[in-house]
Amino acid sequence: MLIKSHPSGKHLPLSSEITPKEVFESRRDFIRQLAVGTIAGGSLLEMASREAFAQTPAAQKLAASLNPAYALVEKKTAYKDATTYNNFYEFGTDKADPAVMAGSLKTRPWTVVIEGEVKKPVTLDLDSLLRLAPLEERIYRLRCVEGWSMVIPWIGYSLSHLLKKVEPTGNAKYVEFITLDDKKQMPGLRSPVLDWPYVEGLRMDEAMHPLALLTFGMYGEILPNQNGAPVRMSVPWKYGFKSAKSIVKIRLTKEQPRTAWNQSAPNEYGFYSNVNPQVDHPRWSQATERRIGEDGLFTRKRKTLMFNGYPEVASMYAGMDLKKFF
Ligand code: MTE
Repeated sequence: MLIKSHPSGKHLPLSSEITPKEVFESRRDFIRQLAVGTIAGGSLLEMASREAFAQTPAAQKLAASLNPAYALVEKKTAYKDATTYNNFYEFGTDKADPAVMAGSLKTRPWTVVIEGEVKKPVTLDLDSLLRLAPLEERIYRLRCVEGWSMVIPWIGYSLSHLLKKVEPTGNAKYVEFITLDDKKQMPGLRSPVLDWPYVEGLRMDEAMHPLALLTFGMYGEILPNQNGAPVRMSVPWKYGFKSAKSIVKIRLTKEQPRTAWNQSAPNEYGFYSNVNPQVDHPRWSQATERRIGEDGLFTRKRKTLMFNGYPEVASMYAGMDLKKFF
């Protein structure tokens, strides 16, 4: 992932330290090419005339009842922080980019195809998805692999409700999440920073775990575009990049899916990517985290919790070497 040095002067790794060298270099080349105008089809900078993309629609309420089993008692991250400090590379690689650029994302009409190793493949529009199960509010920790965290009240239901509906076959071992890949709406797709589309995946038992939330809203409202509208995953015991945004296809597979960050740097971003303070990223420690909104000069970093503080998932990994399957 790309991380910029923080204006507070606190040490945060630089882009070049965090992004795999090849990816960093190719991104630099790309930006250079943009600057000299050698990339066909108009430049990102041109397309990204900030006003053109900054058409944030008025927030729409989304009713849901709080599920007390998942109502974390921790101070929630401010809405402003959760919606302006984002990773959504389809809209740029700076944390502030998605909030400014994602106004161009058209979230209706929207359909999600569910296919692969299922007896009943189906294509569902957003309203059918929203009606499929009662919407719950759940307050989850979100821990990014880059070393920061938030606490977010999401709205959605367990993905298992949808998976059961399509009746997985005995061959279904994994679930692949494929996200929107449309250059007209997503200017960042012109950058070769990842092999698009952004794809993520879970093992079948992980996907069926009640914590794995198919997410439609946050803070009592529909998802803002920059947070992955109209539908994304929230998988709180894994690093944030496992939670794919703006999903258009869910495919059940026999083989482990080829996921975007794992393909880009397999030695740095494992398929499992469970939050684990004992397994460092090759280039930085994962023992502690910076809670967004707690940036005071004397604020200590928080200790990162095993499985991000969701011990109920541990049995899925019993007997596994979590250093090898990181
Ligand atoms: N999904 C897509 N399609 N594209 C992305 O770049 N970034 C991931 C994940 N899902 C990403 C994505 C990363 S690295 C993180 S930390 C979370 O989204 C961030 O979610 P948030 O911006 O809502 O906090």
